Order: sequence, then structure tokens, then C-alpha cells
Amino acid sequence: MLINIDKLQNYFSWSIVTTNKTLSNSCFMFILGLETSCDETAAAVLRADKNHPAILSNIVSSQIKLHAKWGGVVPNLAAREHLKNVRPVITAALKGANVSAKDIDLIAVTQGPGLIPALLVGTTAAKTLAYLWQKPLIGIHHIEGHIYANFISDEIGVISNGPFPASHEIQRSQLKNSKKASLKFPLLCLVVSGGHTQLIFMKKHLTYEIIGETLDDAAGEAFDKTARVLGLGYPGGPAIAATAANFQLPISNFRTNSNDKISKNKTEYNFVLPRPMISSKDFNFSFSGLKTAVLYAVKKNESLLKDKNFVTAMSREFQQAAIDVLVRKTIRAAKKYNPQTILLAGGVSANTELRRQLGEAIEKELKNVSYVMPRTDYSIDNAAMIATAAFYRYKFAKNKKTFGENWQKLKTEADLKLSSQNL
Ligand code: KG4
Ligand code: ZN
Repeated sequence: MLINIDKLQNYFSWSIVTTNKTLSNSCFMFILGLETSCDETAAAVLRADKNHPAILSNIVSSQIKLHAKWGGVVPNLAAREHLKNVRPVITAALKGANVSAKDIDLIAVTQGPGLIPALLVGTTAAKTLAYLWQKPLIGIHHIEGHIYANFISDEIGVISNGPFPASHEIQRSQLKNSKKASLKFPLLCLVVSGGHTQLIFMKKHLTYEIIGETLDDAAGEAFDKTARVLGLGYPGGPAIAATAANFQLPISNFRTNSNDKISKNKTEYNFVLPRPMISSKDFNFSFSGLKTAVLYAVKKNESLLKDKNFVTAMSREFQQAAIDVLVRKTIRAAKKYNPQTILLAGGVSANTELRRQLGEAIEKELKNVSYVMPRTDYSIDNAAMIATAAFYRYKFAKNKKTFGENWQKLKTEADLKLSSQNL
């Protein structure tokens, strides 16, 4: 894509920056991460010494309200919104990190996969800044970002060369309780997002073997479509999770004796949805049948949608069916591939029940395997994960002097494939 630099320079109102600082001669590096692959405009700043990356700022502007009335993301509306927000979001990320253009050593941007009109805003912004600021640029695969959300460190204190400005101190105190994870390779990663459901085995950093994936809908897509069928709105994942949380056991499941009173609000619905491919020997998934099963139940009697107990019971059963399959397949894959750590990644990893039930299954069935998941604000799309993936790409790069791509060469790809780095 051709970029009209003069116009964009005006748009960004940032001037050309000259700096003597290069990636290989600075003791600290600062990475600006950008993410616009779907409906979140996000920018983050990461600061790292050789071994300790830390997120200094993480700004996300969500478009949920805009798309909610359409029941899903409208690509061109998303692009227009990204265009409006990308500059303020970048400015806020730089400000929040207390850095300026000249401090930035590397710009990292989601290159794909995603919605092309949305992706193009981020990649074009990143290319423009790389040109204006004369910085190296790197394209990151969105799923690589989600995986590396598990490696995000907020422990700003580990970087010893303070003093830190007040805003960093505030952030640090807010994050005091963040747990330090044990991330030993090999890793098995369950990726569950709006566009992907994959089991990925990683023998070492930045190497990916996809051992299973969905044959139709992604897990998040199934949540979103089922929520639409149930009239729960967009985004469906959080809506189904919140509705399912109100579920009370069906009346028939309660043993009663003459002294027991059955609460009136216990549901009379007790569904059993299919657990698609739960027993198949491979590690693939299929979720479209689940949504269809819900659709059939609703079509039979649309007035059921007015019954709160029906919607609650169906949300709960749908969520449980999806979780059962995800957990079972992950455990089975772990028994075959013997990872030291299991990671959870992608927007659906914000689901409390999935986080809990996968954890319980690992504890029960996989002794000595650690379990790591991102903080929920790093589960959904954000730019901190993009900057973190870029940090690891830099850390393991063979030639740090030539690291990064020329801004003119970076291609935006809607169907970008996840590929291992040649380490
Ligand atoms: O990773 P993400 O933010 O964007 C994509 O890369 O697609 O994932 C978005 C997906 C949506 O389908 C959304 O419904 C789902 O993640 N999601 C959830 C929850 N929060 C977000 N699904 C289930 N439970 C949640 N709490
Ligand atoms: Zn995502």
C-alpha cells in the first residue's frame, strides 16, 4: 500500500525525529506496540533491559458500543474508528510511559491476521512513525501476541536504573499482587479467541507447532453467535459468561424431603448439548454444531427467549459444553506431548469458568505441569502483548544490528500464517 507521507505527517502532527540512539548501542530499549486487528485500538510502551521487559503503559480504546448495535464487528466502521483513535491512543501510551518519540527504539505492530480495513490503520500508522522517527519496525502475528501475553511482566521494579516518575510508581503499586509465573519449556498453549481456536506446542521461544485447531467456528465466534441467538447482544463471550453465572441447579437435581423448601427461582430447564469431537483422537475442535443446537432449541419455541430461566440455563450449558471440549482436548494433548507448562491465551481466556476448570483439571491429572494464564485485561486484544512478542523476537534475533524491517516492505495480511522464527 502506498502511503502519502506528507498527509499522514500532518495527521500525526509529529515531526521527523533524529536520534543517535540505535537498537544495539542502548542499554535499555523501549518498544512501542500497536494493535488494530479487530475492534480495539491499542498502544503500549514496553521498557526492557537485557532480560526484564516491563509494560509502562497499556492503552486500549474499545469500540464495543459502536458495534453492539450491529450485533458484531463491522469492518469499515472499525477502520473509521481506528483512524479516529489511533493517534490519541499512541499519544496517551507515550505520555503514560513518560517517554517521547526519540526514546522509542522499535515499533511493533500487528501485521495480521484480522480484518484488513482495521489492520491497515495500525500498520499504516506504524509505517508512518517508523519513517518519521527513523525507527526499525516489526510486524507481529496476532496469535503470537496472544501467546506472549503470558510473558508480560509489569514488575517495573526489576529494572534497576531508576528513578521512576510518579506515574510508574502508581502503576507498580497497583500491580503489587501480580504473580510471577513459571514458564518452562516445552509449552502447550490453548489459544481461544474470536478468530482462532488452536492447540500450539512450543519446544522453545518463537517456535510453533499447531497440533490441533477448529475445523469451523472459533470458540469466541461460537460464544458470539450463540449469544446472538439467545438475544444477549455483543460481545457474546462476556454476556454468556455473566448470564451463565446466574444459573441455579434445576429443580429435578435437588433431593427433597418434606422439610425442604424449593426456591421458586431454581430453573426447570436441564439441557444437554453435544460436546463436539470430545472423543476424537486428534486435537481438532468443532463449535458450529453447538450454536446450531441452541438455534434449533430456540426455533422450536421462540417464546422461550422471553423466559429468563431458559436463557440462563442455555447459556450455562453452552458454556459448559465448550469448556468440557477445550479442557479435555488440552489435557489429552498434554498427556501426549508432555509440556512443562500449559498456557491459556486469547479473548476467551478471560472466561472465569474456563480459567478455573482448566486449572482444576491440570492439577488433578497432570502432576508437575504448571499452568499460566494472562491477566484478564491482557487476555483480550491489547498492544502490550504485541510489544512483548516483539521484545522476545529482538532478544532471540541472530543479528540485532539489522533487526526490524524497512517500513516500505512490511505487508499487511488478513490471513497471515503463524510461522516459527529461525533461531
Ligand atoms: O482475542 P480477542 O479479544 O479478539 C480476537 O482476536 O478475536 O477475542 C475476542 C473474543 C470474542 O469472541 C469474545 O466474545 C470472547 O473473546 N470473550 C469471551 C470472554 N471475554 C471475551 N468469551 C468467553 N468468556 C469471556 N469472559
Ligand atoms: Zn485477539
